[in-house]
Amino acid sequence: MALSSWDEKAQAAFEKIVDAIPESMREAVQPQLITMIEKKAAGSRVTVEVIEKMVREDLPEPQKSMMMGALGLSEATPEAKTAEPVQLNWEGDSEKLVDKIMEVIPEMLRGAVKPKFLDFIKTKAGQSAVVTEGLVVDAIKEMNPPEPYMSQIIKVLAAREGIDLSKVDEILSKHQRRQEELVSVFHELQEEYSYLPKEAIDKVREYLNVPLSMAYRVATSYKAFSLEPKGKHVVKVCDGIACHLKDSDKLYEELKGNSDDRFTLEKARCIGCCGPAPMAIVDGEYGDSEWVREKVTKF
Ligand code: FES
Repeated sequence: MALSSWDEKAQAAFEKIVDAIPESMREAVQPQLITMIEKKAAGSRVTVEVIEKMVREDLPEPQKSMMMGALGLSEATPEAKTAEPVQLNWEGDSEKLVDKIMEVIPEMLRGAVKPKFLDFIKTKAGQSAVVTEGLVVDAIKEMNPPEPYMSQIIKVLAAREGIDLSKVDEILSKHQRRQEELVSVFHELQEEYSYLPKEAIDKVREYLNVPLSMAYRVATSYKAFSLEPKGKHVVKVCDGIACHLKDSDKLYEELKGNSDDRFTLEKARCIGCCGPAPMAIVDGEYGDSEWVREKVTKF
């Protein structure tokens, strides 16, 4: 890196924050960071303090926490440092699930990301401070960490043993115990879990007295059902720096106007493929603006 108006320590600090970016995204994000830092310096020499200020003030989460972690910065205010540690009532395997999710985050960043995640969980848990596995899953979905972490976390969630089956009982209680209810029940399960978990199918079979072969024939012959945790139609428009500069907002608004409840539209962090920005993700696949426009017309 040859940055003549940067002092040496600033260049070293920059290397550290670049190391905190997933490798696949570095090439694209690096120039954007340089622009943001030099803008912060406002024509003066770039120092470590300028970089730290930019990271603290201009970066969105979770990039901010990750880069603060890489720089060894603490976000805690003096008051926060003396605050009571978070006391949460972990139910079932919820605490273990948090640890499993954190294993996906590189070790050097974990120290900064985990407290943030715990604070978020605490806010969601409210006064009861009771943390269930479902709450942990909702929290990580809302935090929406950047790729490739989110994909890895989804794998962790899909691979965890057992699922919360309380919703199955709730759904079944609204139906009569007749085989004819099978398709309606499956639709509700698909809606609830975004797929048909094996354990849920077993419960449904038992309740409706449906043979195994019939249950799986129905589950596999309707396009609306999935036996794998693939998710329903979720369209995400990348709102990372490169995509933002290429009008990802306009693409988002355009898709929003055309959604007609056919798909869920969300914003996503940089997916590490910024060349053809603005980029979008449809049910886990990536593509550019033309691709996503064509894709959603087929839903
Ligand atoms: S900013 Fe990198 S893919 Fe959108």
